[in-house]
Amino acid sequence: MEIKAVTGELTGIKAGAIIVNHFEGMKRPDGDAAAVDKALDGAISRLIKQGDIKGKLNEVTLLHNPGKLPASRIAVVGLGKKKELNINKVRGTIAETCRYLRGKGVTSVATGAQGAGINGIKIDDAAQAATEGALLGLYTFRRYITKKENNSGEIKEFMIVGQPKVTLTKAIARGRILAEAANWARDMVNEPGNFMTPTHMAEASQELAEKYGLKIEVLDKEKMAELGMGGLLGVSQGSQQPPKFIILSYKGSDSDKVDAALVGKGITFDSGGISIKPSEKMSDMKGDMAGGASVLATLIALAQLKPTINVTALVPATENLPSGTALKPGDIIKAMNGKTIEVLNTDAEGRLILADALSYAKKLNAKAIIDVATLTGACMVALGNTCTGAFSNNQELTNKVIAAGNETGELIWQLPMFDEYKEQLKSDIADIKNIGGRYGGAITAAKFLEEFINGTPWVHLDIAGTSDTDKEKGYLVKGATGVPVRTLVNVILSLAKK
Ligand code: BES
Ligand code: MN
Ligand code: ZN
Repeated sequence: MEIKAVTGELTGIKAGAIIVNHFEGMKRPDGDAAAVDKALDGAISRLIKQGDIKGKLNEVTLLHNPGKLPASRIAVVGLGKKKELNINKVRGTIAETCRYLRGKGVTSVATGAQGAGINGIKIDDAAQAATEGALLGLYTFRRYITKKENNSGEIKEFMIVGQPKVTLTKAIARGRILAEAANWARDMVNEPGNFMTPTHMAEASQELAEKYGLKIEVLDKEKMAELGMGGLLGVSQGSQQPPKFIILSYKGSDSDKVDAALVGKGITFDSGGISIKPSEKMSDMKGDMAGGASVLATLIALAQLKPTINVTALVPATENLPSGTALKPGDIIKAMNGKTIEVLNTDAEGRLILADALSYAKKLNAKAIIDVATLTGACMVALGNTCTGAFSNNQELTNKVIAAGNETGELIWQLPMFDEYKEQLKSDIADIKNIGGRYGGAITAAKFLEEFINGTPWVHLDIAGTSDTDKEKGYLVKGATGVPVRTLVNVILSLAKK
């Protein structure tokens, strides 16, 4: 989709559809909607008066232009109550409107920078949000559908009308970088497990490195053994697919230091292993590498935005399958940092591979560590599908992550890390065991990870509930969400600023 900034009046634009807005509770059209209303001899006013247009958030009313404007159709979109409008609603509304128009066969769309000037929303943020909304909302994953669709087309052109043009053009470029990175992660996560193997993840990372000039290293089994990565090797030993440890680096500053390590869980399929999961919904576990995909995708955006900072993404990638060679409940393994782990449940595998990856981040001397993982069903029980869970040893870094999440609409809620929770992880015969008791599972998982952090400022993000969705809503479509790519990019930008 081509997205461009256009100066001039929306009413003068030739397009398949132009988008104007209406706020809930307003008696008459305003701004662009008023101009269109005038050209259409009060058509919008009449619909408002009749109650057909209420202005409720995401309500779309389509008017056919009786030849008085260059555009073929006018979509009047509800933005809800004016006082409650925020940037995330703009993203969602543009997404819903674009999907609606695509369904009507519209191929070119123009809109003003919806929301600009309202509740302190700046025009560049509005234009960026519209760009993100359009690209994220129109995302599809159809590569395995052989029947080509002919009824629902594609929006090929999206115009944002306003000024100054340079500001809009820059905002569009930024929105595109963020949304396309998130959509890359979505593609990775939606890909089924038979294609998205650890080897495929490594190859996709190699391609990114070449395309964006990033540094890459992929460790194989031999190297893992040399480094003592007993967690990753242990989880992978039940699978026929070789594990990979992906190290992708963005270098934006002259220093040799790693300013931030982004660690992502890369379980390309989680059957649970010998502690096998129930078969219902097991297929969802093809997405258990969403954390890994998100940290790789973050580097795509950084390579284009070029902040002055060095960031390394680390992804331990493997399948978790049962077999005659698989880890068994009760086995003891040794992580890269030398700690021994009693594996009482082979389905708590994410923390085992992260133990090595976090140890590796420590070895790199990373100044800050953020890990992202579809780690626990318990986090989903606690927070539902609305927020990602945050767990940390450092409030300053956590505040930055949460603030970045608020900007992007990828909501994050912090959960406690009291040492009392750690008691559940005491093992009688090893340094630590990999499961706690029945309750507080998201927190005990985080306390487990903390054992491999040793004081470095660190935030763990549990995206079990937020990495995919079964509902189409706002800029989310069914399947992978791309969470928390846009947030991670913002966090890194804020770290680079200081
Ligand atoms: N990948 C799962 C967590 C998960 C569950 C993510 C549902 C997304 C949706 C993880 O490896 C897992 O199986 N965790 C166990 C841990 C338990 C055995 C301590 C869980 O949450 O049940
Ligand atoms: Mn598991
Ligand atoms: Zn898992």
